[in-house]
Amino acid sequence: MTDATTSTRPAKRILSLRINGSTWEGAVEPSALLLDVLRYQAGLTGTKRGCDMGTCGCCAVRVDGEPRLSCLTLALDCEGRDIKTIEGVADGPLLSSLQQEWADCGAAQCGFCTPGFIMVGEALLERNPKPSEAEVREAIAGNLCRCTGYVKIVEAFMRATAD
Ligand code: FES
Ligand code: FES
Repeated sequence: MTDATTSTRPAKRILSLRINGSTWEGAVEPSALLLDVLRYQAGLTGTKRGCDMGTCGCCAVRVDGEPRLSCLTLALDCEGRDIKTIEGVADGPLLSSLQQEWADCGAAQCGFCTPGFIMVGEALLERNPKPSEAEVREAIAGNLCRCTGYVKIVEAFMRATAD
């Protein structure tokens, strides 16, 4: 017989992450998603929850430089790794060139999808500073936008890569 006063929840563990260049430490459930730790424990709400099942790209962040869907990533799997979120992209008031072109082109309407696109886009531009339009479209194939029709989004990428 189970003692009703005994919790069956697994014990929390202390997790240490490097987020946007700073160390973050907190107690997390073993099943905690990186998305929830970022939003509700670290207070970084720029990372969005859309589908919660890996199909919309809203929750994309970078882990050791690579784009990752934080709704499909266990926080504990990121112990000691470098996490970058949308809050870490601009340098103070200085937007990245992709962010600036995003604003100038009007690539955000409601803006809910924007952080995910930017995180995936920054990773693309770092490994391939001059992508073709086809390469841009391939890189963002996992990011959904219900507002813009993608024309302005692709335009922002192409302008960010122009000399
Ligand atoms: S919330 Fe993660 S892919 Fe949609
Ligand atoms: S700008 Fe609204 S979902 Fe993309």
